[in-house]
Amino acid sequence: MQKSVLFVCLGNICRSPLAEGAMRDAVLKSGQELLIDSAGTGAWHIGNPPDPRSIAVAAQHGVDISGQRARQVVQTDFARFTHIIALDRNNLSDLQSLKPRESGTVLSLLLDHLPGREGQDVADPYYGDDTDFMRAWQDVSAASAQFCRSLR
Ligand code: 4NP
Repeated sequence: MQKSVLFVCLGNICRSPLAEGAMRDAVLKSGQELLIDSAGTGAWHIGNPPDPRSIAVAAQHGVDISGQRARQVVQTDFARFTHIIALDRNNLSDLQSLKPRESGTVLSLLLDHLPGREGQDVADPYYGDDTDFMRAWQDVSAASAQFCRSLR
């Protein structure tokens, strides 16, 4: 079965768009083909582009995420995606509640894929500053590169 991955945070405007962008970049560079998307557990930002600070930090690393638009997780995601990856433990807990019993989708925490960071959250930078967005980029790019390697 073709693998597919959905990254999920709260608003789908800060962290999961970065994870989607970093994963697309890693997958492209590794020559793999993978369906990649992101979504939020919350509905506040549906239809909005990523936070300008996320767009900026991704651009600094050669990744354009400006075309992304926020959406909310839907039940059909548990049929469409083989892997759904939560950015923090609250998101993971919400996804565990939403997941239909019959779904074979594998749920995980993003930093569980980064040796030494297992069980940790990608901190929400929304109320933070540029340093917090840089830290979020570093976390998501390291973990998604590692996850990409694990899929080969
Ligand atoms: P994200 O950050 O979950 O990384 O997209 C947030 C964005 C918006 C809000 C919270 C977190 N909000 O409360 O509107």
